[in-house]
Amino acid sequence: MMTTILAIESSCDDTSAAVLRDNRLLSNVIASQKVHEQYGGVVPELASRAHQQNIIPVVDAAILQAGITKEEIDAVGFTRGPGLLGSLLVGVSFAKSFATALGKPLIEVNHLQAHVLSHFIVSSEFGVRSSEMATTPTFPFICLLVSGGHTQILLLKDYFDIECLGTTIDDAAGEAIDKAAKIMDLGYPGGPVIDRLAKEGNADAYQFATPHIEGYNYSFSGIKTSFLYFLRDRLKENPNFIEEHKADLCASIQKTIVSFLLKKVERAALDHKVRQVAIAGGVSANSFLRSELQRICEKHHWQAFIPPFQFCTDNAAMVGIASYFKYLKGDFADISLPPYTR
Ligand code: KG4
Ligand code: ZN
Repeated sequence: MMTTILAIESSCDDTSAAVLRDNRLLSNVIASQKVHEQYGGVVPELASRAHQQNIIPVVDAAILQAGITKEEIDAVGFTRGPGLLGSLLVGVSFAKSFATALGKPLIEVNHLQAHVLSHFIVSSEFGVRSSEMATTPTFPFICLLVSGGHTQILLLKDYFDIECLGTTIDDAAGEAIDKAAKIMDLGYPGGPVIDRLAKEGNADAYQFATPHIEGYNYSFSGIKTSFLYFLRDRLKENPNFIEEHKADLCASIQKTIVSFLLKKVERAALDHKVRQVAIAGGVSANSFLRSELQRICEKHHWQAFIPPFQFCTDNAAMVGIASYFKYLKGDFADISLPPYTR
């Protein structure tokens, strides 16, 4: 007996719906919100309004692309949190009314858990998976979760048995990258721009100090500040400094952040004698992070798990796979559940 799940993701600025049959992805539709670019960051009020406009067409498209009818849906999964309250409310309310209308159960999903479980999506449509990831990881494995709001080293013992080994004590890695991009006036979100420009630059052109933080924890606010002060001093001597050294600056700040991230991941894998290391979340789309993880894993004869790009940034497919594993456990949500922001 196959299980068909409709999943909804609306925690930040992407409205997404996906359909899965068991662990296999049938469709994954994402509507990104362009409206925030002109403000240099996500404007919560505009995000929830855009979600309201997008949610019905996005769900319609996901069902259509999956080639199923609404009646075939066995459960509706949704991101309950963390995220922006107004954004979450749109997806949560939609999922509740849709499930009620269909007479099917609801499944609540934690957004961070969904990012991590994206490694278990089976998708033939995205052929990328077969070349980039030979198999799915086996427990226990380590996952570095790096998104716009979170930076965590996780030890996965089972799908829902996850130990957080370390976390950032201030900014997230994605936030630091976005802020560095903002300082250089590269637009929002800056991560993909830094990634692109860094390819033309020398990553050893400039050194930025990384802090000494206990254990597997991180701190990124100092890196951002030292980057800001460094540029302020250079700009005094040469007002065109950023323009003239953009690629080197991008490559250097990217290397600083990625090396800091992976040094602790490598330590965690060694300490816990784990031979499989995964990355997840928006920053896992970063090409330098991807190639560095590959290099480190090859050095130790470990297996690296790098998600295809469409599963790195926010998407409903990952909410769908998390919903599927909860469905198997019979872990359903009550209709009265409110969203949570943290
Ligand atoms: O997971 P995500 O889509 O949303 C959150 O849950 O926060 O992550 C968004 C973050 C942003 O900080 C964005 O700049 C970063 O992921 N990002 C990247 C790249 N693509 C997205 N950072 C570095 N390189 C990239 N290619
Ligand atoms: Zn995310």
